[in-house]
Amino acid sequence: MMDWFLLAYPWLKAAHLIFVIFWMAGLFMLPRFFVYHQEAAEGSAEARAWVEREDKLATIIMNPSMLIVWILGLALAYFLNFWAQPWFIAKLVAVIGLSGYQGWLMAYRKKLASGERPISGKRLRMINEVPGIAVAVIVILVIIRPFG
Ligand code: HEM
Repeated sequence: MMDWFLLAYPWLKAAHLIFVIFWMAGLFMLPRFFVYHQEAAEGSAEARAWVEREDKLATIIMNPSMLIVWILGLALAYFLNFWAQPWFIAKLVAVIGLSGYQGWLMAYRKKLASGERPISGKRLRMINEVPGIAVAVIVILVIIRPFG
């Protein structure tokens, strides 16, 4: 392994985890915002305030954090050459799923902003469990490496 990478490795990993935390915070918060947004009367000042909050959370925190997590994670995988390790492939699958979930949240955000409310608050609360389950799976895969 290259000398500079040995020096950079703990910093890359720390940066990866810092942005994982920012990303996860957004993934936990946005569907909660949707629940409160849907409880506000359509077209009200409160509903408009939620559109703005959702927009800020998505564009300032969630999208940049996801991108940075991907870049740092792929850089770590490249230098550590993890491509053929089963735990890593399983992690990638889980993270692709989480990125797809974010894509769905972004699409739902746009629907809400245009006045549509296709999903009930109860179902949204259930959907809000997705990132918690995904984080548990990913952390177990990375730390325990259950299958090699
Ligand atoms: C977006 C794509 C991602 C890629 C390509 C990726 C890749 C990596 C790689 C290669 C490492 C270094 C592992 C090592 O040093 O042994 C790492 C560390 C880590 N990643 Fe990710 N990761 C990604 C997203 C995530 C997400 C979403 C989470 C949590 C929800 C996460 C949690 C962790 C943790 C906890 C570590 C530290 C493990 C250790 O102590 O070695 N990663 N990641």
